[in-house]
Amino acid sequence: MKIRCKTKTLPFILLVFLFSWKAPADDGYELWLKYRRINDEHLLRQYREAIACIIVPGESETLGIVRNELKRSLNVMLGIDMRYRAAATVENALIISTPERSDIVRQLQREGRLQSLGAEGYLITVVPKGKNKFTVVAANNDIGLLYGVFHFLRTLQTHQSLDHLNIVSIPRIEYRLLDHWDNLDGSIERGYAGKSLWEWDELPKKIDSRYHDYARANASIGINGTVLNNVNANPVILKREYLRKVSALANVFRPYGIRVFLSVNFSSPISGRFEQDGNRKGGIGNLPTADPQDPKVGLWWKNKVKEIYALIPDFGGFVVKANSEGMPGPQDYGRTHAEGANMLAEALEPFHGVVMWRAFVYNADVDADRVKRAALEFIPLDGIFRSNVFVQAKNGPLDFQPREPVQPLFGLMAKTPMMLELQITREYLGHSTHLVYLAPMWKEYFQFDLFAKGPGSTLAAIVDGSLRNTQMTGIAGVANTGSDRNWCGHFFAQANWFAFGRLAWDHSISAEQIADEWTKMSLSNDSGAVATVSSMMMGSREACVNYMTPLGLHHIMEVDVHYGPGPQLDTGRVDWRSTYYHRADSIGLGFDRSSAGSNAVGQYFPPLRSVFDNLESCPEQYLLWFHHVRWDHRMSSGRTLWDELCVRYAAGTDYVREMYNKWLSLEGAVDPQVFSSVKKKLKQQLVDATVWKDTCLVYFQKFSKQPFPVEH
Ligand code: GCU
Repeated sequence: MKIRCKTKTLPFILLVFLFSWKAPADDGYELWLKYRRINDEHLLRQYREAIACIIVPGESETLGIVRNELKRSLNVMLGIDMRYRAAATVENALIISTPERSDIVRQLQREGRLQSLGAEGYLITVVPKGKNKFTVVAANNDIGLLYGVFHFLRTLQTHQSLDHLNIVSIPRIEYRLLDHWDNLDGSIERGYAGKSLWEWDELPKKIDSRYHDYARANASIGINGTVLNNVNANPVILKREYLRKVSALANVFRPYGIRVFLSVNFSSPISGRFEQDGNRKGGIGNLPTADPQDPKVGLWWKNKVKEIYALIPDFGGFVVKANSEGMPGPQDYGRTHAEGANMLAEALEPFHGVVMWRAFVYNADVDADRVKRAALEFIPLDGIFRSNVFVQAKNGPLDFQPREPVQPLFGLMAKTPMMLELQITREYLGHSTHLVYLAPMWKEYFQFDLFAKGPGSTLAAIVDGSLRNTQMTGIAGVANTGSDRNWCGHFFAQANWFAFGRLAWDHSISAEQIADEWTKMSLSNDSGAVATVSSMMMGSREACVNYMTPLGLHHIMEVDVHYGPGPQLDTGRVDWRSTYYHRADSIGLGFDRSSAGSNAVGQYFPPLRSVFDNLESCPEQYLLWFHHVRWDHRMSSGRTLWDELCVRYAAGTDYVREMYNKWLSLEGAVDPQVFSSVKKKLKQQLVDATVWKDTCLVYFQKFSKQPFPVEH
């Protein structure tokens, strides 16, 4: 009876299944590494013809990853079972190799075409031979091959022609790191996508498969290092028990070209209990001091570093937040930042490790204007850091605001390698709720000319070392990843992770190109959809500036959470108050940093100094950053400051409404799960933008005493 029932119902069940089966909804886990069947028949034919088989000679863990990636991508994109061959035969082939393992690549080497590639660069080219064509990904090392393969796959994912393929790609910056502000209890400081990816309780025994996926995603965009823990560092990370866990992660990441770094607490050698929100001066040792001039302290660090390298031979180095926001540092013992950094650098030097000493310091005793303090503290130290020390500074002199001028320290530190710290997680730009594409902002910073050595002294040229022939170059992005299934909380926040990697590799790529690539790889290759999405993304940061802090306003958000508006905030630590920054009064608005005010303009090189100093020449986007401006001041639009402020706030919210409507037009053109989750977030963004506009304008109106303009 049972058996008869099964045989009769089985075909029926199968039929029901077949008709009801749909492609699984996109939960965002695959990020931009989504491999979909090429639906353009002409391209598909071209791709199939060009890649009749694959040749990846040699064995290594990295080559294993290369083979896996090719398998999981090409079989799906080309809809065939790819064949692998040991050597070139009479078919067109895709050859992935270093010169040692392939005649064709050796020939390219003889022609001098691999010379400039260095350790990580790659060449993708087409080599004709008789009737055949070989598409070759060549590099000096396996990791270069992995980067090259991801580039090649991106070419296919974004539906580009393989004809005349000739790509030479070399990273412009050596250290390209993600900084995780992850705590050992699994929470993430300024994290908006769940808990930490690192399962400290399970490590080193259990290796979550997600660690591989994390490393793969990073390798696909050229990130080559990861700082695992929060800059507000718990010293426990340096206990042997934790170092074993760190070592297990390093083992997973190594074949993907990713090295591990740690944030360390300067007081680690002492005893005491570290508290994230309390006493941050804790340690794991038993010394009575962490004074960098005390030989016992230096020895403690040397021994600790030796212990680390015995477990992790390619360990990258330390990030240090010292004498900042309650963190301990050398100044606790009357020593300078340089003395502190150099002690650690000396311990790391024999192992080629580096110190990334953060310049995010703002001691109120140094100057009344917070934005001047870091430069005032660090300029006297220029030239006395050891050669393996970076000074790491945030892009602006304040703190990852929607818009800031560039931190002048980048221009002023002529003899010290300056590492740039960007924030991918959006502490001040709507967390993972708002859609804000950050590449246009980062490009603005990169292109900012500091005039340190005359015109052309862009931040990009300083950071990539070309301006001063700096040997050590680095960039770090504070990660926006977490345990959420889609990694970043907001589907579009993935674009910022992607953009960070692409720009860290090559800051000359345009924000439009990155948006275009990301959209095609993550969402759709349909030209209409791509144009719509790209138009949403490209103006989203300017919109955020407008609905939060237009015309150079800054730091007027609610206390601590940094999400909604809080222009009225007038209590607590002075340099955390909104009123300290906007200085609204009956005369006008803005912080006077001109030569008649705090003279922060004096930290910039001429002609920038006078451009910013002069109310008439100061770019309007920085106006209220550098000047206290009268409410009736005429702006370039012909409007008064007050009217312009209203118009800008309105423009910001209008843009969000437009984004929402544009997104609605994509229903059916993008994955339904992605569609509905983004729609929900955009709806919230519109509510929030309106709250920002209304709160700020109602508050500032108390001072301006002006009516709202008609166009507002
Ligand atoms: C900001 C942020 C803190 C962070 C700090 C830093 O102040 O709000 O959470 O610790 O920057 O970069 O050190």
